[in-house]
Amino acid sequence: MRAKIRLLTESDLPAAGQILSLAFGTYLGTPDPENYWPDLDYASTRWQADPTAGFCAELDGEVVGSNFAARWGSVGFFGPLSLHPDLWDKGIGKQLMAPVMDCFKNWGVTHAGLYTFAASPKHIGLYQKFGFWPRFLTAIMSKSVQRPTGASAFKKFSEIPEKQQMECLNNCRILTDKLYPGLDLEREILAVHRQSLGETVLLRKEGKLAGFAVCHLGPGTEAGNNKCYVKFAAVRTGSGGGELFEQLLDGCEILASDQQMTLLEAGVNMGRHDAYKIMLQRGFSTVIQGVTMHRANEPGYNKPDAYIIDDWR
Ligand SMILES: CC(C)(COP(=O)(O)OP(=O)(O)OC[C@H]1O[C@@H](n2cnc3c(N)ncnc32)[C@H](O)[C@@H]1OP(=O)(O)O)[C@@H](O)C(=O)NCCC(=O)NCCS
Repeated sequence: MRAKIRLLTESDLPAAGQILSLAFGTYLGTPDPENYWPDLDYASTRWQADPTAGFCAELDGEVVGSNFAARWGSVGFFGPLSLHPDLWDKGIGKQLMAPVMDCFKNWGVTHAGLYTFAASPKHIGLYQKFGFWPRFLTAIMSKSVQRPTGASAFKKFSEIPEKQQMECLNNCRILTDKLYPGLDLEREILAVHRQSLGETVLLRKEGKLAGFAVCHLGPGTEAGNNKCYVKFAAVRTGSGGGELFEQLLDGCEILASDQQMTLLEAGVNMGRHDAYKIMLQRGFSTVIQGVTMHRANEPGYNKPDAYIIDDWR
């Protein structure tokens, strides 16, 4: 079945959001799939972050599915990919892959991938057709928020004077470039700031940026009710990374507590063994387990000593 694949417009967002909820709710077998994820927003927040990278499938003038590409400098990932359940297994999901593959090519990304259901042969098979291969599991973990005592001070991106924000973004870029060449989180930091989705926590040591965490807070974001969701966090390379990672997580937990959030959620690829172990030690437990698939089966920045949080959902 051939669908028209085109850029999403703002007026398509309600339909795209409804299908997203219905598709995932149906796949996961929830009793009321139309109202799955009522407190989460992916379609609108991702579209606003980059309206040139949100796509839909249209049949007879109706939006029937969507997909979103995201660019973190030299790194690209996509999702959520969703299609109305009445149309599954007719080839439209594959058609929605074409524009995100074009984005990755045009952006010149060197590391590309996605997060998907580890137990689904269909999902793994679908993405393998586009050159993505399953690697380590990614654990979506959470813990109840308990305000840490004696935690080190951190700054918030929103408190930085506008004139110094570019410098801060540059420092974040320098830090992530050492973790993976060209990795750049400017898009996420600015999306959170401009759309008021949450906050970016900045950890400083000896006058220099030592780590940062991009957090979504509450409903209408990727976090949901009562949750602080760490969409990306990283500390600088070099010795003492584990300690800095703990301090950055303290900062996230303080932010969550200040904002009256009760759950702290964060995803970590198990290829980042040291980070995963620290999160377990801190009382995080796994809520959902998926797998990341990487183009050409490359490890990217998933190394045992990389103190990075992200899950590419
Ligand atoms: C995922 C989703 C978008 C796929 O859309 P779709 O239109 O059903 O997928 P398509 O028909 O285009 O492609 C599916 C491909 O997987 C292949 N496939 C299906 N079952 C398979 C299996 N067991 N093993 C290997 N490949 C399999 C099919 O053969 C097909 O490829 P082909 O057409 O070349 O033969 C849709 O099922 C959906 O919305 N699911 C719910 C939300 C979701 O899971 N999103 C993705 C999260 S990562």
